[in-house]
Amino acid sequence: MDKLKMQTPDLTDKNIEQIAALFPNVITETKDEKGNLRKAVDFDLLKQALSKNLVEADDERYRLDWPGKKASLLKANTPITKTLRPCREESVNFDTTENLYIEGDNFEVLKILQESYLGKVKMIDIDPPYNTGNDFIYKDDFKKGKEEYEEELGVEDEDGGKLFRNTDSNGRFHSDWLSMMYERLVVARDLLRDDGVIFISIDDNEVHNLRKICDEIFGEGNFIAQLIRKTIEGGKQDSGSVQSNQEYCLVYHGKDQSGTNRKLITDFGHYTKEDKFIHERGKYYLKPLENGGLGYVPSLDYPIIGPDGIEIFPGGSHGDNGYRWVWGKERYGKAVSLDLIAFIEARDGVGYKVYYKIYQYFNSDGDVVERSSPFGTLYLEGYTNRQAVLELKKIFDDKRLLDYPKPTSFLRECISMGCHKDSIIMDFFSGSATTAHAVMQQNAEDGGNRKFIMVQLPEKTDEKSEAYKAGYKTIAEIGKERIRRAGKKILSELEAKNRQLKLGEEPVDASKLDIGFRVYKTDSTNMKDVFYHPSKLKQMTLGDLLSNIKEDRTPEDLLTQVILDLGLELTLPIEIKKILGNTVFIVQTNALVACFDKNIDFKIVDTIADLKPFKVVFKDASFKDDKDRINVEERFKRLSPETKVMVI
Ligand SMILES: C[S@@+](CC[C@H](N)C(=O)[O-])C[C@H]1O[C@@H](n2cnc3c(N)ncnc32)[C@H](O)[C@@H]1O
Repeated sequence: MDKLKMQTPDLTDKNIEQIAALFPNVITETKDEKGNLRKAVDFDLLKQALSKNLVEADDERYRLDWPGKKASLLKANTPITKTLRPCREESVNFDTTENLYIEGDNFEVLKILQESYLGKVKMIDIDPPYNTGNDFIYKDDFKKGKEEYEEELGVEDEDGGKLFRNTDSNGRFHSDWLSMMYERLVVARDLLRDDGVIFISIDDNEVHNLRKICDEIFGEGNFIAQLIRKTIEGGKQDSGSVQSNQEYCLVYHGKDQSGTNRKLITDFGHYTKEDKFIHERGKYYLKPLENGGLGYVPSLDYPIIGPDGIEIFPGGSHGDNGYRWVWGKERYGKAVSLDLIAFIEARDGVGYKVYYKIYQYFNSDGDVVERSSPFGTLYLEGYTNRQAVLELKKIFDDKRLLDYPKPTSFLRECISMGCHKDSIIMDFFSGSATTAHAVMQQNAEDGGNRKFIMVQLPEKTDEKSEAYKAGYKTIAEIGKERIRRAGKKILSELEAKNRQLKLGEEPVDASKLDIGFRVYKTDSTNMKDVFYHPSKLKQMTLGDLLSNIKEDRTPEDLLTQVILDLGLELTLPIEIKKILGNTVFIVQTNALVACFDKNIDFKIVDTIADLKPFKVVFKDASFKDDKDRINVEERFKRLSPETKVMVI
């Protein structure tokens, strides 16, 4: 019987396999510290194979280095034994949802998800700490004296963890941040699909360094764009010589797209609608004609007659309400004559909103343009920080729970550029979970089935903060509650919209909208470390075996670790059945059947074998002795020969 290894994959081994596939002759064998034979790379032979492009160790070369870079790479490749434990109480629709909320340090989570989500994520979008001189960043491996450690320690995460405030007086200010990002991006890249993309928000503090490490990790040729997001309307009133009012979002293809298959982001997103002009003008998307961010202008506050013959004003009323039309009367008239104007029934069902069409090959002056491929740099307007803060406050009864959220509108723009309607989108610095909110909203609007994976450290909120006073002790609690509230709101808005559909309008099926999420939290392995080593197990006594699993772990904890170990997705449907008094987990019909009860009777073995599962897992300690174990294997061989029988 095979034993599950219960640790994340060793990425060095994977790398060696990849080199072996390209250069089989450079693979050799060596002994590790315990005397076991391991595959290894003969670097001299590899050098020879690449000799035309050889760089000697002390030669100068073009690259970004910092103290700690090598150690980072090593860490990225080293396996860990941590696991995830499900938390049903904090989840919404645990049994049916395909969304995930994972609490823990993202570096560990990315490693834990390595096999289950390898090459499955279409889009990663992250908004990491910008290293502004006062950010908390997470130290993965604190090899420091206790005093020095405590001095640097700013706040703790839930586990009393290792967050420290990275101030610019830290001698390794940039290096520490770079190491933190580098090791995470290296591991995250593996999760991306071959056509996956990554969006990383950043500001002037580290954009230059981030771009260099992204060039290295994803490949310079995979750079798509450095989007510019205007963060503040007007300028920032500070004493600096230049008022910074922008941030960036670096966009890269995650995997090498060279060759004929190089495809840009899904049609560059926006252009999804078609009308009778499809052949001359291409597809189009709609933008609201009213704008509330640019300030009131009397000449841009004129009535437009809607399809019901009623006058429409910007912001819903005549007079200074902060809104204006984007175009003056004359320009609007021209747009009408060019068929660029569209009316859409207002969300609340009262009256209409005015939109204008932006076509792929046709502009609002009536000129033919070429817009089918993305611009190198997009200047994204209408996505300010203020909007984001207001949006979050609206969800939390006007309380300001987080200072630095992103606006959902910006995230939705990225989502429409970066993925298909059924893609998996991951955000591993998720904060208030804006990405999850944007995914649900986007699905509600176009009937999509995008799924999200949020990862967030249970970083404690400041005791003086509004969040703490409102009862949110960690940022993860804010994130989860936002998804609960936003999900309910989006669903009820969708149901209301469906009740008031106009002739010809297609409803989006509200019953298909997934506003749930499964919560998982990182924890140490379920196995007692001292006992769990496959080779040692053989020599152990029955008493030892009985206790190889930690006492506080539930069967569902064990199942989760097994699912991860086997590389199955965490959101697969799980059926819990009582069979002959035993609890049996049936994962996705017959992908995996597991039973962790104490005494495994042969009757239950036969019933499980009848299900013809691909894989079946028991607890080693459930068998009385080796004879029983062999018997079980024999029964499966007879009744369901295809089944792989394993134990933990
Ligand atoms: C800039 S905020 C993201 C804000 C988010 N985009 C929003 O709209 O709310 C960065 C987040 O990353 C989290 N974070 C920092 N280090 C982390 C780590 N190692 N693992 C997981 N989350 C981390 C912080 O707690 C913070 O909430």
